[in-house]
Amino acid sequence: MKLLDLYAKMKGDLNQIEQELERSVTDDHALLSEASTHLLKAGGKRIRPVLVLLAGKFGDYKLDRLKSVAVPLELIHMASLVHDDVIDDAETRRGQLTVKSKWDNRIAMYTGDYIHGKALTIASQLSDPQIHRILSNALVQMCIGEMEQIRDFFNTEQTIRNYLLRIRRKTALLVAISCQLGALAAGADRVTANKLYRYGYNVGMTFQIRDDLLDLYGTEKQIGKPPGSDIRQGNMTLPVLLALQDEKVRGPLLGEISYIRGHEGFPDTTRAISLIRSSEGGGLAEELANQYIRKALQALEGLPEIAAKKNLIDIAHFVGKRTY
Ligand code: IPE
Ligand code: IPE
Ligand code: MG
Ligand code: MG
Repeated sequence: MKLLDLYAKMKGDLNQIEQELERSVTDDHALLSEASTHLLKAGGKRIRPVLVLLAGKFGDYKLDRLKSVAVPLELIHMASLVHDDVIDDAETRRGQLTVKSKWDNRIAMYTGDYIHGKALTIASQLSDPQIHRILSNALVQMCIGEMEQIRDFFNTEQTIRNYLLRIRRKTALLVAISCQLGALAAGADRVTANKLYRYGYNVGMTFQIRDDLLDLYGTEKQIGKPPGSDIRQGNMTLPVLLALQDEKVRGPLLGEISYIRGHEGFPDTTRAISLIRSSEGGGLAEELANQYIRKALQALEGLPEIAAKKNLIDIAHFVGKRTY
């Protein structure tokens, strides 16, 4: 099943989420609204809201309550993208200009903060303090993950474990809590919420590994930005770290990485990328991504056989193979 087929079945509810997303960022200030709407309208997979809704099917599904976590989660994700594009100095996202390049860095910083603020406003519709604790912890962890990424720029000696811990914080946790909060907002029991959390965590790990693979193997059309952005920026992702363990390419690849590091602006990454592609790194990274998918599927064992479970299985397979 394609992701789009799945979305078709949830269209009505997702439309309502979309409307709420738009409404949430359109009434305070012209420029903040324009910049936020620019990113919103550029598209995006809305995978976090979809997971909230599907997890909600394991409890008492009430769209109004689920919306109050789905919309903040997508907004937190969006805010992190606006800020991420400042840090990464990225020109395009979702095939459109980033906020920082259409306007500037200062506007991007406040647009990100504004979107965060709106996430809080909407989340405040829910009184359960546990939900707020889970949300704020995820945000704190995301910041730590991003800081660790900056600390480790161009560190070719870092361990795989280091990489995995970083992506756990910066990406997997938000995906995990999308599932967990969907379940909790629908009043599902703790065991169910925990299983869904574990599913989301493992899907989230695969999600970032695939993102990192796409940056090296994808085309600009697929990923909505120029490939090679990670290595240019110094972000040593899994395929790179694994390629560095491949004796045949380690020496020349270290040379290319230090060339990239020494060049301001837009250094040529084609040689580095073809070295990585000629190594075992990509294949090994895929294998690890597949292991996480298997763990995600295992986490669903014991949950009732409802249609949403099948959808979650399809999403796990989609994420394992995703090309956008
Ligand atoms: C991009 O996330 C950033 C990562 C966490 C890898 P998505 O791939 O979910 O971005 P959109 O929302 O679909 O654009
Ligand atoms: C994900 O990392 C960013 C966040 C978790 C905020 P990336 O830097 O890989 O995301 P893209 O590739 O720019 O979408
Ligand atoms: Mg980025
Ligand atoms: Mg990326």
